[in-house]
Amino acid sequence: MEYKCCDHILGSIDLSFSGFKYCNEVWEGPEYISYKGNDAFNKNEERRLKIIEEMKNGIIPERCKECPLLELKDWKEFDAKIYKITVFNWKHCNAACFYCSVHSDFNESIKKSDDYDSLPFIKKLIAEGRITEKSFIAFMGGEPTMLQEFPEILSLLIKKGCKLEVLTNGIKYEKLISDMLNAHNDNKICISLDCGTKETFKRIKRVDKFDEVINTLKQYIEDTKENSYKVRLKYIVLPNVNDNKKEIDKFFEVAKSIGITSVVRSVDHLESKMNTKNKAIETSVIKAYEYFAQQAKKYNMTLCEQNWADAIIENKVYNCRKISTLTKIKANLHFFFGKKNK
Ligand SMILES: C[S@@+](CC[C@H](N)C(=O)[O-])C[C@H]1O[C@@H](n2cnc3c(N)ncnc32)[C@H](O)[C@@H]1O
Ligand code: SF4
Repeated sequence: MEYKCCDHILGSIDLSFSGFKYCNEVWEGPEYISYKGNDAFNKNEERRLKIIEEMKNGIIPERCKECPLLELKDWKEFDAKIYKITVFNWKHCNAACFYCSVHSDFNESIKKSDDYDSLPFIKKLIAEGRITEKSFIAFMGGEPTMLQEFPEILSLLIKKGCKLEVLTNGIKYEKLISDMLNAHNDNKICISLDCGTKETFKRIKRVDKFDEVINTLKQYIEDTKENSYKVRLKYIVLPNVNDNKKEIDKFFEVAKSIGITSVVRSVDHLESKMNTKNKAIETSVIKAYEYFAQQAKKYNMTLCEQNWADAIIENKVYNCRKISTLTKIKANLHFFFGKKNK
């Protein structure tokens, strides 16, 4: 049937610390149903079915109205198969990035998930035949390597032959991640280094663990050999912190020296929220974002797609930002001289 819908509504599940939803895009998306009782998961599924019916009748949820993923096309009937799961039902982390969108707890000793465990839900979805080898499961968090149930869930999904992605800060090496990378062509990891120096790392991550991350990266690259292109190194361009040539140059020198061949550029995704209306995205960020792509080309590295970040940079998200001339001049000066705010 032809109607306006998206893949997420038809088959995404977000296992989050605040509950469940059917979408984990950076756009506003649906609200979470908070986990207050055993039926929260089922309620999310009921809500999904209700929304699919509404969409068939042209009714789009308010928070989805401007989502670029909505498409008018002939959608297949709902078959309960899972297209994507994002697992991030805990916040515990061994870093404390100032930009962290989940405001992770900096606590190395806590290894429990927050409100509920995701393992029983993963097992349930496998048993019901909803997770197949076509399903894509991404681990976010908090830091996945800090989660007690992470190895068991990952092993189950590797066995099932799913497509997997782990977003990790790389402070702690996890052998199972290398096994995952070697298990399936589509599997990948992404490590946000966001810098090329120990000083900037400390400033961003608020822990002194730059060397640990470099060692982990080297280990994953060594473990995965011809699969090492699946180890992707990310740089979130942050205004007045790392949006300058010097830091980006250092990042590429480090990446090259350890054998990285795939890189990702990103921006603060809070920029995509509706409450940033009329807020200018700094020219220095836009320029740094472009410069990053030029350097990737120079170093012959693959620049992996991050469509939502491109959309923020291109001002396609809610299309409402205005940049003053003064902001542009200041941002340009900052970009070229790598000046840092105190
Ligand atoms: C919350 S983190 C958890 C995973 C892991 N601890 C890590 O840092 O990679 C999930 C992903 O979101 C990214 N992230 C966190 N806050 C962000 C923000 N404000 N803007 C853009 N990306 C962000 C991280 O770089 C990471 O790739
Ligand atoms: S490493 Fe990840 S989860 Fe931890 S504080 Fe940074 S972005 Fe948040």
